[in-house]
Amino acid sequence: MPQAAITVEGISKRFRLFHERPTSVKERLLRLRGSRAEDFWALRDVAFEVPEGNTWGLVGANGSGKTTLLKIIGGILRPTEGRVVTQGRIAALLELGAGFHPELTGRENVYLNASILGLSRHETDLYFDEIVAFAELEEFIDSQVKYYSSGMFVRLGFAVAVHVDPSILLIDEVLAVGDEAFQRKCLRRIREIQAEGRTIVFVTHAIQQVQAICDGAVMLDHGQIRAMGDVADVIKEYRLVMLRRHIGFARRDLTRAAEIAGVELLDGEGAVSSVVPPGGELTVQVDVRANRPVDDPVISMVIYDGDGQFVFRTGTAEMRLGRLEGKLRVGFEMSSLPLADGRYSLTVGIHDRSERVVHDWHDQRYVFDVAGGLMEETQIFIPVETRVERL
Ligand SMILES: Nc1ncnc2c1ncn2[C@@H]1O[C@H](COP(=O)(O)OP(=O)(O)O)[C@@H](O)[C@H]1O
Ligand SMILES: [Mg+2]
Repeated sequence: MPQAAITVEGISKRFRLFHERPTSVKERLLRLRGSRAEDFWALRDVAFEVPEGNTWGLVGANGSGKTTLLKIIGGILRPTEGRVVTQGRIAALLELGAGFHPELTGRENVYLNASILGLSRHETDLYFDEIVAFAELEEFIDSQVKYYSSGMFVRLGFAVAVHVDPSILLIDEVLAVGDEAFQRKCLRRIREIQAEGRTIVFVTHAIQQVQAICDGAVMLDHGQIRAMGDVADVIKEYRLVMLRRHIGFARRDLTRAAEIAGVELLDGEGAVSSVVPPGGELTVQVDVRANRPVDDPVISMVIYDGDGQFVFRTGTAEMRLGRLEGKLRVGFEMSSLPLADGRYSLTVGIHDRSERVVHDWHDQRYVFDVAGGLMEETQIFIPVETRVERL
């Protein structure tokens, strides 16, 4: 049994939340005495060990505490309870641009970052050209980083983190920001770092990456460990939870900050219709109205079968809608519906990315029929061409 490179012991993290911004001195004074502040536990009693030389994936829905946990492991945040023991130098690639000073140039930031990670000026000199080449920033290295794009930030941050010879590398979701070619390069580099026997913890939504490169995984759910250890087991649990996470939304308090103003079901010609043949086309068109500006909303659609069993879910999470003001029309176009004959119901909702806040939720309020397939007792529709040859 190899030694643990990272030991996380009973970590809990509490944040203080203030719900409304105090507007006057008087209010502020009242706030001091009153109990407006609410404790929020972003992590609760989290414990696990990462053996030296292992790569572990950290997964969980948005807001489940992944970044907070990485920051605590990296020594950037102090836990409220518990402790973390690590062996060796840690390099952390956390939020975009974290650790970079906007007024300094790329070159100056490389030296600054490297020195924070414990490298001497001379050591950094040795790595410098390699870092810049890896980041593909030769032309921009003497520009102030405030002019960098998000992709450039990630490239430079990753390049520094992987070249400073860390024993432990912590990587937050930032890799998803770079372009695909750079992501591939990062994954290649991660494999090299693995081969050198270093320890890695990385956060990702790309489950294939966890499957491909991790020796173990941890899944967080509302700040608590939901599954841990074997990659296949953790992924199974993660998929299950991600599929079911809309259950219970209907019972939440709705903020009504944004509302569903209308839902139409349209056929292939764009005509309103609630009957679709198997394999037919169906568009669910959702009109959304913001009653006040809403940051980063996600519009979701869920399909249930006639027995109320969950069938499918999709949404705009990947699209990053940004700030919503006024009206928005979202069309979920399903060009070939693989459903068998029967009655289905639709849920449409608006929530935030962490899924803690639900703005509006129309639970199984819309109905459509799949009809004309002359099929009985099947669950899905698979287009089949049957060929018979007499031999
Ligand atoms: N500095 C902070 N103050 C208050 N709440 C915070 C702070 N940082 C994170 N949180 C909250 O803690 C929870 C976990 O956040 P985070 O660790 O960023 O989750 P993840 O990375 O899994 O999306 C979220 O609900 C987030 O809003
Ligand atoms: Mg995060």
